[in-house]
Order: sequence, then structure tokens, then C-alpha cells
Amino acid sequence: MAVDKTKIQAFIGQHQGDKNALVAILQDIQAEYNYLPEESLRQVASELKVPLIDVVGVATFYRAFSLTPRGTHTCTVCLGTACHVRGGPKILDEFERQLHIKPGQTTRDGQFSLETVACLGCCAIGPVVVVDKEYYSHTSVRQVGPILKKRRK
Ligand code: FES
Repeated sequence: MAVDKTKIQAFIGQHQGDKNALVAILQDIQAEYNYLPEESLRQVASELKVPLIDVVGVATFYRAFSLTPRGTHTCTVCLGTACHVRGGPKILDEFERQLHIKPGQTTRDGQFSLETVACLGCCAIGPVVVVDKEYYSHTSVRQVGPILKKRRK
């Protein structure tokens, strides 16, 4: 997807070109493109007059940001201790089997990305899976198919 320089400029303008608003600007770009295109990072660095390495540093520090295109839907499987002992790894295996990808990857059709997380802070309802912003509690392997089917185009 080509980067619309005017749009990036508008995101920067919304924060009056304030260097301290870097995270918020990157959030806007991430929301628009579902990842942070390299071209957009260069533009942000140039317009905020901050070194590109600093912008990339912030972009790679936060999990919410991605430097590669993400799928339309992001499936996050919790593998924290509580979810792990309740079957998190088996659920991850099932996502991998059905999507034919590993964590950190996106399906070829661009529909799904798969990720893992160390704890979502709701251990009592584990194993937990989050798809986009929808939480699934006490998830079982059998739910994986329906979860994906609901979103598949
Ligand atoms: S370990 Fe999964 S929510 Fe805490």
C-alpha cells in the first residue's frame, strides 16, 4: 500500500509537530495502515526533526507497532504461566495448524496474523485468546475453527 504523505502530514499536524507526541503519531499511522511503513517513519523523522534511529527505536519498542504488514485480524494466544498450564500451547498449535503460519507471521491472503503474549493480566479466565479486541476466556482447541470462521472472508 502506498503511503499518502498528506495523510501522514495531517497526523503530525494534529499534534502540532510536537516531538513528544511521537507515540501518538505512530499510533495514528498504525491504525491507518495496520503497520508502520518505512516511508512513513522517514517522513515523521524528517518533519519532527528527530533522528530516524529514534523513531525506529520507538516503533520497535512497543508491541502494538509492527514494521511489517499485519493481517486484517490479529490472533493473540496467551502463553503466560496460568494459560500455559491450562492448555495455551495446544490452542496455539491449533491456530498454527489452521492458519499455516507461526507466531509473528501473517497468512498469504493478508487476513490473519498470529501472535503470542506472556500474560494479559486476566489469568483466572485462561487460557485466553484475543482476536482483534475480542477476548475469549477458558478457550478450548475446538473453539479455534469457529473463531477463525467468524472472521474469514
Ligand atoms: S497467563 Fe494468560 S492471562 Fe495471565
